[in-house]
Amino acid sequence: MTIPATMTAIDPDTPGGPEVLVPVERPVPQPGPGEVLVRVAAAGVNRPDVLQRKGGYAPPPGTTSIPGLEIAGEVVAIGEDVPPEMIGQPVCALVAGGGYAEYCVAPAGQCLPVPEAVTMVEAAALPETLFTVWTNLFERGFASDGDTVLVHGGTSGIGTMAIALCGLFGIDIIVTAGSPQKVAAAKALGATHAIDYQAEDFVARVKDITGGKGVQVVLDMVGGDYVPRNLQCLAEDGRHVSIAVQGGPTATIPIFDIMRRRLTLTGSTLRNRDVAFKSLVADELSRTVWPHVEAGRLKPVMDKSFPLVAAADSHRRMEAGDHVGKIVLTVAGESGQS
Ligand SMILES: NC(=O)c1ccc[n+]([C@@H]2O[C@H](COP(=O)([O-])OP(=O)(O)OC[C@H]3O[C@@H](n4cnc5c(N)ncnc54)[C@H](OP(=O)(O)O)[C@@H]3O)[C@@H](O)[C@H]2O)c1
Repeated sequence: MTIPATMTAIDPDTPGGPEVLVPVERPVPQPGPGEVLVRVAAAGVNRPDVLQRKGGYAPPPGTTSIPGLEIAGEVVAIGEDVPPEMIGQPVCALVAGGGYAEYCVAPAGQCLPVPEAVTMVEAAALPETLFTVWTNLFERGFASDGDTVLVHGGTSGIGTMAIALCGLFGIDIIVTAGSPQKVAAAKALGATHAIDYQAEDFVARVKDITGGKGVQVVLDMVGGDYVPRNLQCLAEDGRHVSIAVQGGPTATIPIFDIMRRRLTLTGSTLRNRDVAFKSLVADELSRTVWPHVEAGRLKPVMDKSFPLVAAADSHRRMEAGDHVGKIVLTVAGESGQS
């Protein structure tokens, strides 16, 4: 196929509200060594994109200013050191930026094949939450078969992926959510328990659910005063994994309690990790999780799709906070499924 010189992309010049997300023309990027060029069929929308749009989450050095952390589409060109068989392959990929565009460059190691069991739109909704939940809940938090974990934001992109993975790997998952409707949605998706944090004290409820024992892992996206409360939810030797600070970047924590109950506090951000790390994770996911995707046992929870040119509306939906699961942009004639 002929690759055009320019493409439609979303690439705001200045930070601002959703209205800055207007379509513009940009050069089609060239794949460098170890990279592929993907003709994008769909791109996932994630909360970090909203932070980037507002000017609070700059792309890592050397990364395009075009937002978008995950894509699915067809490989249409390859750089040096990439097997030629990749051309024409349907892939989804974790990228450090550039997803909100008709073409996007991705490191070959960060691509996973799109099997028959998922559509391109679904595939685009997998990488960011899958890599994040896997590396934090399972690798940093050591969640394993028979554990009980607490995950905040149960109906978020991250939370819905956590519910799905816990279901596949034999882990009981307690989630929190901010309304009775979201609690019902989380339960319908397979959460073992869902707590309406607006109506109930989640610490008391977790203690009640676990018979006073607590959970083995907390996956936290709130931070601030949630952290000391989360620590109260942990069992002895429990692990607290921070992935966001939506409720505040600092916390006062009881150090003696950490010592007495041998708690571990950790966390991570995915975007700034190098290609070697992300490729290792992709390799691990291809062995541990991808068979479930191929068999149709793991699909992302889809909220709503918007055409690329209506990216502003996709951010409005995310910021309204009514979504359950993933919001996706569709490109290249994908129909979406909103
Ligand atoms: N560290 C990493 O590598 C990494 C990677 C990807 C994403 N993240 C972070 O993970 C979070 C979720 O991302 P996403 O794309 O899944 O976003 P999302 O779908 O927009 O979900 C955000 C969630 O945060 C919850 N929330 C916000 N403020 C809260 C508060 N004060 N108390 C309790 N819950 C609160 C909301 O729950 P309710 O609506 O029920 O209130 C909502 O479910 C974001 O903060 C994002 O930045 C981190």
